[in-house]
Amino acid sequence: MARTKRLGVLTGGGDCPGLNALIRAVVKRGTHEFGYEFVGIENGYEGLMVPDGAWPLTLEHTRGILPKGGTILGTSNKANPFLWAEKEDGRWVERDRSDVAVRRYHELGLDGLICIGGDGTLSIAHRLAAKGVNVVGCPKTIDNDLTGTDQTFGFDTARAICTEAVDRLHTTAESHQRVMVLEVMGRYAGFLALHSGLAGGADVILIPEIPYRVEPIVERLHRRHVRKRSFSIIVVSEGARPVGGELSIVERAEDVPGRGVVRLGGAGKVAADMIAKHIDAEVRVTVLGHLQRGGGPTAADRLLATRFGCKVLDLVAEGLWDHMVGLRGSEVVPVPLSQTTKERKVDPNGELVRFARSLGICFGDA
Ligand code: F6P
Repeated sequence: MARTKRLGVLTGGGDCPGLNALIRAVVKRGTHEFGYEFVGIENGYEGLMVPDGAWPLTLEHTRGILPKGGTILGTSNKANPFLWAEKEDGRWVERDRSDVAVRRYHELGLDGLICIGGDGTLSIAHRLAAKGVNVVGCPKTIDNDLTGTDQTFGFDTARAICTEAVDRLHTTAESHQRVMVLEVMGRYAGFLALHSGLAGGADVILIPEIPYRVEPIVERLHRRHVRKRSFSIIVVSEGARPVGGELSIVERAEDVPGRGVVRLGGAGKVAADMIAKHIDAEVRVTVLGHLQRGGGPTAADRLLATRFGCKVLDLVAEGLWDHMVGLRGSEVVPVPLSQTTKERKVDPNGELVRFARSLGICFGDA
């Protein structure tokens, strides 16, 4: 009789709503339909780098987790086996320790590794595949910035939270006749800002794909004032910047060993300070931060995560390694991991931006 397949499951990078729904789908379908065994790898790839980072993941662990935010496996956005941070002579150095992860994969008797994550996690998975590890991927991120899939899970929930924030800011903005600036996440892609700004009826939306100038924004606020609309809502993506200006960075990549990427923050304040110099109304800034990633997933994210979780087992059954699942139109399909670079951005000439402009929303460029 053929040995039961044993699969590792890990969640890497920033968490997002829907991770638990996906883990549940994988373990349920995998156990009932295929008779697979699962090993939970803790805190992203860290679980493959340390001695006690893996444990049997069973149906028992997945009971009741469908609507829960976060991930029962834990996650990390600093655990990169190819850029492993360790102390040497009292200072942090980053080394390629991917051989440790590969060895651990074999020691655990794994036949495959299901990597659930964003660009960082999936590109590490692709590199591990080149070292002989059987990997398959599932794309998640609130930023929605991955190529290879029309949408990532986590985005719908974060978009709903941002939209609710815009709604809530409206009422207080109107009462005080203020200009309210809302900074949302998204890294180098403006999807969260654009979608929530449009869905919430913002007056100005600033996104990384369209560097802004203060003049058109001030002009837009003045026009509202003349029309007796004495409050305004501005949604600013954390990756937005003025023409010729810099990204707003709170932590450089080299400040956090193993992290490998910058941490953004402060773009809302930069825009607010520039605007405040030109208007009489009071300006207030709200930074939504990690509220965007917390809590349970929307129905749409539960569904997408569940579909990804079920589909990824088809890839395993077919031995279609070094691929991830992706949404293409209405279908979930296999996509080579080599095609999942973090390049998806808002198209500044696309339909949503054009329609937003036609409704009078200002992007700070005209
Ligand atoms: O990629 C998801 C994300 O939430 C980004 O939108 C944001 O820039 C980043 O992660 C924040 O990272 P951290 O959780 O390390 O603060």
